[in-house]
Amino acid sequence: MTFTDADNAALYDRLNPWKGADADFYDPLVDEVRDVLDVGCGTGQMLISARERGHTGRFVGVDPDEPSLDRARGRTDVEWVLAKAEDMSWEAEFDLAVMSSNAFQCFVTDDDLRKSLRAIRSALRPGGRFAFDTRYPAAREWEQWPLSDFEVDDLTIGYDVESVQDGVVTFTESTSRDGRVLRCDRASLRFLEVEELNGFLAEAGFVVEGQFGDWKRGPVTALSRSIVTVAATPS
Ligand SMILES: C[S@@+](CC[C@H](N)C(=O)[O-])C[C@H]1O[C@@H](n2cnc3c(N)ncnc32)[C@H](O)[C@@H]1O
Repeated sequence: MTFTDADNAALYDRLNPWKGADADFYDPLVDEVRDVLDVGCGTGQMLISARERGHTGRFVGVDPDEPSLDRARGRTDVEWVLAKAEDMSWEAEFDLAVMSSNAFQCFVTDDDLRKSLRAIRSALRPGGRFAFDTRYPAAREWEQWPLSDFEVDDLTIGYDVESVQDGVVTFTESTSRDGRVLRCDRASLRFLEVEELNGFLAEAGFVVEGQFGDWKRGPVTALSRSIVTVAATPS
């Protein structure tokens, strides 16, 4: 039996349903504004769930991954745009930009970060906000990944870390059935320290409004697993 890109996107949604503490954090931010840009929207669950709650604003989801967007396109009252963040060219059209589920970590080089943050900043109206989460480097979560193989139905999902260099973790995710590897995806994620992160935000013209170490808006501490940031553009 094959395992298609569409199957993989469906599996993502099954393993990462839009509910829980992160959804409880982001959803009120979305609900209190009109126009929302979801950068690295993947299969689009955040915006789709906001539509299902009755939100009527303009929603745009951007992602460079075609199979994820194909799945999102099942919902036609959201604009789905196949692009990288750095290639976005909106000017002052949104009240809020979001990057959920650590999508921000896909900006691996300084150049990616600078260009993407500049494009996000440009897309926001004066006083607009940018909310996102990124894993906290001190938690060294990648050390657990190779130990965390798991099964879902007849599939086994496993992770291998290939390298850790200058805060960039390169790893593979493999999906197997009956010991046969059906697909193997390689990716790199950047783990930024708080000071580095805030330096990039300031350079792009953002002011950090709130920065938290958990989804309940607690402080970043040695035990935090995430850095959750709400940054704003000057009014
Ligand atoms: C972990 S997924 C998160 C998806 C979604 N935000 C969620 O909460 O389920 C990270 C997403 O970031 C996207 N991505 C990778 N590089 C990107 C880039 N340069 N610009 C925008 N999105 C990117 C990936 O294609 C992927 O869909």
